[in-house]
Amino acid sequence: MSTLAILGTQWGDEGKGKLVDFLAEPAKAVVRFQGGDNAGHTVKIGSEEFKLHLLPSGILRKGKLAIIGNGVIINPKVLINEIDGLAKRGIDCSSLRISDRANLIMPYHVMLDGAEERLKAGKQVGTTGRGIGPCYSDKVARIGIRMCDLIDEKVLKEKLSFIVDLKKRMLRAYDMDEGLDCDSIVREYLEYGNRLREYVTDTAVLLEKLLKKDSKILFEGAQGALLDVDFGTYPYVTSSNTIGGNIATGSGFPPKQIDRILGIAKGYTTRVGAGPFPTELPESESMELAKAGGEFGTTTGRMRRCGWLDLVVVSHSIRLSGIDTLALTKMDVLGKIDKIKICDHYILDGKKTSAFPASLEQLSKCEPVYKSFGSWGELSDSEIEKMKKRGRAALPVEIKKYLEHIEKILRIPVSAIGLGKERDRTVILRNIWPK
Ligand code: GDP
Ligand code: IMO
Ligand code: MG
Repeated sequence: MSTLAILGTQWGDEGKGKLVDFLAEPAKAVVRFQGGDNAGHTVKIGSEEFKLHLLPSGILRKGKLAIIGNGVIINPKVLINEIDGLAKRGIDCSSLRISDRANLIMPYHVMLDGAEERLKAGKQVGTTGRGIGPCYSDKVARIGIRMCDLIDEKVLKEKLSFIVDLKKRMLRAYDMDEGLDCDSIVREYLEYGNRLREYVTDTAVLLEKLLKKDSKILFEGAQGALLDVDFGTYPYVTSSNTIGGNIATGSGFPPKQIDRILGIAKGYTTRVGAGPFPTELPESESMELAKAGGEFGTTTGRMRRCGWLDLVVVSHSIRLSGIDTLALTKMDVLGKIDKIKICDHYILDGKKTSAFPASLEQLSKCEPVYKSFGSWGELSDSEIEKMKKRGRAALPVEIKKYLEHIEKILRIPVSAIGLGKERDRTVILRNIWPK
C-alpha cells in the first residue's frame, strides 16, 4: 500500500489539479477531503482544458475511484452541473463516490456569504461568494444538512423546517429574507438527492477496504496552507483546515497511514482576494507576471495578485503539514522574467525571523529579505524533453541554482518542476510515489 497527499503551500492555485492528474496514473482512488466549490483546479490534457471545482481531478483518468470525503462541503447543484458538463465531453463519472457525512451548501449559505461580505465595509475577505463560511459555520453549530439527509424525505423536511425559519430571522436582519421558502428548498434538494443517490456511500468504509487491498490512494488538497482557518492569514482565510492534519479528519482515513506529503509551490506567489501578502509586487510588475502566467482565478475570474516566492510562507507550510518533498510549478512563466527574486527570511523589529507571525499587525512590519537570481529564459521543446529523460543533470544552470537555494533553505528536496500547463510538461527529478 502507498498513499500520497498533494497540498498547496501558498494561497492556493499552485497547480494542484495538474499535479494530481499527472500523479494519479498508478492510483486506485483520488480523494478530496476539504473545501467546496471555492476550489478551482485546472487540468489540461492535450488540447482540452478542464476546470474542476468539486470533483477530484482523478475523475479525468478512466478507472480511478473519485472520492469526495466527509470534510468537503457540497453544493449539489454545482456538482450535478459538473458531472453533466463532463458527460457532454465524454467523461464518465460512474466511479464517483460521495461521503454520506458531507455537509451541503444550501441557498441561504450563499445569500449569507454575500450579505456578510457586503456589511464588512472595507474589511471584506473577498470570498468566492460560494457560501463556504456560512456552510462550515453551520456544520460546527450542528445545524448542517448532510448528504445522508438528502435521501430521506422525512428527515430533510423535519430539519429544514426549523433551520429555514432560523435563517429567515438572520436574513431579515440583513433585509434579505425574501425568496427563502422551505417547501421549495425541500423539493429542490430532494431532486438533487435523487440524482446523486447512486454515488452516496460511507467513504471511510470504502477507504478502509482500499487500504486492506494495498491500493494506492492519492489525496487532493484544495486551497493552500496560508488560507488555513487556523494557520493562515486569519481572518483573510477560507473556512476549512487546508493542512495535512485535515486529510485524516476530512476523509476518515487513519493519519498513520499517510505515507508521503508532496507540497506544491509556484515558482513565485499569487493570492486572490484580500489580505496580507509580504512579497507582493507593485501593481505594474504584478500585472506583468499575472499576464505572463495567465493568473486569473479559475472560480471567479479575478486577476490574481502576484509576488516573489516567499520561503517563510513555504517553510511555515512544511512545518504544519510535515511536507516531505516539493513540486515547483510555473517555472516556464518565471523564465520569462529577467531578474528573479526569492525571499529567504523577514526582518522584524531589526531581527531576522523565519517564523510566520499570527498577528497581522506583526506581519505588516515584516520586511522580506531577497536574494536575486538570473533568468533561464524560455525553454524549447527539445530542452524540456532532455530534462524529462535525464532529470537534474539536464537542467539549465540557472534553474539548478534556483532549486539548490530553495532546497538549502527549506531542507527538503524538490521532486518535480512544472514547465507548462499540459500533463507532459512536468519534469520529475526524483521518485514521488512512496514504494
Ligand atoms: P490549483 O487550484 O492549485 O489546482 O491551480 P489552478 O488550476 O487554479 O491554477 C493553476 C494554473 O496554472 C492553471 O491554469 C494550470 O493549468 C496552470 N499550470 C499548472 N502548472 C503549470 C506550469 O508548470 N506552467 C504553466 N505555464 N501553467 C501551469
Ligand atoms: P484552489 O483549490 C485561491 C480564497 C478566496 C478568499 C478566501 C476566502 O483553487 O487553490 P472562501 O470563498 O473560501 O470563503 O474565500 O479564500 N480562496 C482561494 N484562493 N484558490 C482557491 O482554491 C481558493 N479558495 C478560496 O479568494 O480570499
Ligand atoms: Mg485554483
